[in-house]
Amino acid sequence: MSQTYRITLLPGDGIGPEIMAVTVDILKLVGEQQGIQFEFTEALLGGAAIDATGEPLPQATLSQCQASDAVMLAAIGGYKWDNLPRSQRPETGLLGLRAGLKLFANLRPATILPQLIDASSLKREVVEGVDLMVVRELTGGIYFGEPKGVFETESGEQRGVNTMAYNLSEIDRIGRVAFETARKRGKKLCSVDKANVLEVSQLWRDRMNELAKEYSDVELSHLYVDNAAMQLVRDPKQFDTIVTGNLFGDILSDIAAMLTGSIGMLPSASLGADGPGLFEPVHGSAPDIAGQDKANPMAQVLSAAMMLRYGLDQPQAASKLEKAVGQVLDQGYRTGDTMSEGMKLVGCQAMGAALKDALKAG
Ligand code: IPM
Ligand code: MG
Repeated sequence: MSQTYRITLLPGDGIGPEIMAVTVDILKLVGEQQGIQFEFTEALLGGAAIDATGEPLPQATLSQCQASDAVMLAAIGGYKWDNLPRSQRPETGLLGLRAGLKLFANLRPATILPQLIDASSLKREVVEGVDLMVVRELTGGIYFGEPKGVFETESGEQRGVNTMAYNLSEIDRIGRVAFETARKRGKKLCSVDKANVLEVSQLWRDRMNELAKEYSDVELSHLYVDNAAMQLVRDPKQFDTIVTGNLFGDILSDIAAMLTGSIGMLPSASLGADGPGLFEPVHGSAPDIAGQDKANPMAQVLSAAMMLRYGLDQPQAASKLEKAVGQVLDQGYRTGDTMSEGMKLVGCQAMGAALKDALKAG
């Protein structure tokens, strides 16, 4: 029996529409091959939404996302909207979407593909075989804590305030996702915090230790965030699954991404307790190359694979997409971001065509 999934597409800004178009094409093909039907509808988010409606996350977009089986986002933002007041910035739309869909768990894998080892800025022996997963808390911490704002002190000076706060239940639910994730991977979980300085981190650490008793098959360790940043660059292979809060996860996931050579290769999944997940590349909207057919669509395609695996429970179709990416890299096709000597430089659309060929052949 064939199944129809309602997918909301948020192409967003910059290179977003280009990589989304290529990915939707590929999803249609894999759907045909696997007997999966998709009903795609587009909605506005970010700069595109600001231009059309004045707000980065129109209510219509949120409602449409809430009513779908999964949401696929490309990228948002660009110079054009950088100087708007915070409430009207593209990033505010993305944060509102994460909160509106209650997507508290953000999975960001960083896997070194053997074909791209030389694209990494680190030595081959340091990065070869890296396969780690950052589980980032996404709807709490300093991104959302109250009080926040710019206030005036008694002496009339301006004072900017954000608050890093976690309720125990928020720590608990992200901890459980992380232990479950580690259990399905290498059974090693490293919790990253700043418990030597921050009370919120001590609560975090204590709860992770409590949870470890329930997941005795997973080995739990702890690192302070500054040390974790150093260890990620010094010896990334020591890590399997990392769990951390919103801000630390934002920073560490960019470091982890760069180990792999190109942020243009990395997907992510954001999941809630129930309801649709959000699947998006880790990279941004790259306004400098937008509209030039230069973007690497692979992170978007791999995000579609995460959607199939984690959002729609279609692991076979997910594996097909991942395999096609490997094959196309084996064939030597590269976009500018991963280009190296002897490889074939192609644009976004040609990369999409190569991926489709690989799917048809596979
Ligand atoms: C990310 C981005 C976002 C974040 C921005 C665009 C709001 O950096 O997804 O990592 O900080 O979460
Ligand atoms: Mg970030």
